[in-house]
Amino acid sequence: MNTLIQNCINKKLSKTPIWLMRQAGRYLPEFRSIRKKNQDFIKLCLNTKLSSEITMQPITRFDFDAAIIFSDILLVPYALGQQVSFEKNFGPNLQKINLKTLNEIKKEDFLKKLDPVYKTIKKIKTKLSVNNKDTIGFVGAPWTLLLYMLNRKSPKGANFNVFPKDKHTNDIMVKLDKFLKIHIEAQIKSGVSIIQIFDSWAGLLQEKDLEYFVYKPIKSLVDFIKQKKTVSICFPRNINNYKKFVENVNPDVISIDYNTDPTIIRDTVDITVQGGLDPKILLQNKEIIRNEVTKYLKTFDGKRYIFNLGHGVLPNTNPNMVKYLVDVVRSFNGK
Ligand code: CP3
Repeated sequence: MNTLIQNCINKKLSKTPIWLMRQAGRYLPEFRSIRKKNQDFIKLCLNTKLSSEITMQPITRFDFDAAIIFSDILLVPYALGQQVSFEKNFGPNLQKINLKTLNEIKKEDFLKKLDPVYKTIKKIKTKLSVNNKDTIGFVGAPWTLLLYMLNRKSPKGANFNVFPKDKHTNDIMVKLDKFLKIHIEAQIKSGVSIIQIFDSWAGLLQEKDLEYFVYKPIKSLVDFIKQKKTVSICFPRNINNYKKFVENVNPDVISIDYNTDPTIIRDTVDITVQGGLDPKILLQNKEIIRNEVTKYLKTFDGKRYIFNLGHGVLPNTNPNMVKYLVDVVRSFNGK
């Protein structure tokens, strides 16, 4: 039996599937109580028992149609030898890249460092497939990872109009392509049915740089995922032209941000669409939530659409409103 998301991609429309980016995280009190006792975030991601438990928390609470593995895109730079820590109210903090380590890193050592992630997938996979739910693995896109690796913190407010396409950049991109494929393959072998590629900072680039930093490197990953007969979802956040992205990259699903007009996407893009709703809407009252959610559902009514947000769930979201959102999506019966 197919999962709802597989049906949705194969045009067998029944119900609109729903899951949320950052569904396993800081807005859940049951996550915060584990996090309080586990100060080292990377260690927490690499604790199979706890990361399995955290992955399942939103499924238990809201019965989402898919679980995304509790992990982080920055585990790849970490496994490539760059130290990563997370500071309260600041975000990630990366040490300088050690090019020697990066050049010498072996596939076996990389896989060994990330083995707990693969164990987590194996552990929860059976439970999820019995309930006909998808298990979603993920990676950061090369551009977003490159940015964290070179900038060493979140690039909020930064201006990267003149990001160099020099040998140093190219060498890191080549390494990322290689090791992201290793990480993707290991996640697929462990049992994920979908890979989502997060390009959270694609919107910082100028149009002329998208080919080099976004289309080409993501297409390389998408082609690899296709070869492995697994579904790919791409989230090139805040780019201006999703149609052009889809034409260049050709993923199975395109995940849209909240600044983009969903009607234009519906009318110009021919693949399954995911997401769009502004996560800030979940901070509003039920009436506003219902109206805004219904807008997306009506826009994509009869189309292949996976309900999700236009970015991750915000930490100050009330879980009861997430529950309400799920109820609205599940009870929608068309126009
Ligand atoms: O629920 C899920 O989506 C699964 C787990 C997941 C996390 N991060 C857990 C996490 C996923 C898929 C991510 C992806 C991720 N990580 C992205 C892409 C999506 C996006 O939001 O744009 C990015 C850019 C990162 C890098 C990252 N990790 C940042 C900037 C931060 C700090 C601030 C923040 O956004 O939370 C993290 C830490 C992080 N990753 C937390 C969680 C639950 C919070 C950790 C804490 O308690 O402090």
